Amino acid sequence: MIKKIKDIDYINNLSNYKVTLNNFNKVIGYYFDNEIVGFLDYSVMYEKIEINYIFVINEYRKKGIAYNLIKYVIDNYDFENITLEVNINNISAINLYKKLGFNIIGIRKKYYNGVDGYLMEVKHDYFSN
Ligand SMILES: CC(C)(COP(=O)(O)OP(=O)(O)OC[C@H]1O[C@@H](n2cnc3c(N)ncnc32)[C@H](O)[C@@H]1OP(=O)(O)O)[C@@H](O)C(=O)NCCC(=O)NCCS
Repeated sequence: MIKKIKDIDYINNLSNYKVTLNNFNKVIGYYFDNEIVGFLDYSVMYEKIEINYIFVINEYRKKGIAYNLIKYVIDNYDFENITLEVNINNISAINLYKKLGFNIIGIRKKYYNGVDGYLMEVKHDYFSN
């Protein structure tokens, strides 16, 4: 089950990534037996959505949880495009985004401690027909 998360402290203990809430971002969690096993931090800036971070705990990976978290955003917002940055070596995440229709549209030089990042995007048109 996917639900909005209010307990940010819990999320911030799951991975090295620390969520900080502001006027634009939201965090949703994937619940299994009442426990959060994955989360997605994203920002909604009018017609544009940015994925800030997605994480699934190890034991629950490769079951479609990350796919469904992003699909939830795709299905629940009117947006023009969704963008994100990803480390060029993060093959799992790049494959996940490609499976959802994202394309690489740019390179962010030395974005991650000296490693390049890809800027990826999917437009709303991709899902409409
Ligand atoms: C990236 C991550 C979120 C994927 O979560 P997940 O729930 O395991 O992903 P899903 O099961 O929804 O997989 C969907 C697709 O992603 C790709 N994928 C996921 N794990 C993969 C792996 N280990 N190797 C290759 N491709 C992978 C596949 O295309 C997969 O589709 P398939 O099962 O039909 O092959 C997870 O590995 C994770 O938390 N990694 C650490 C945090 C991270 O790197 N986040 C991304 C920051 S930009």
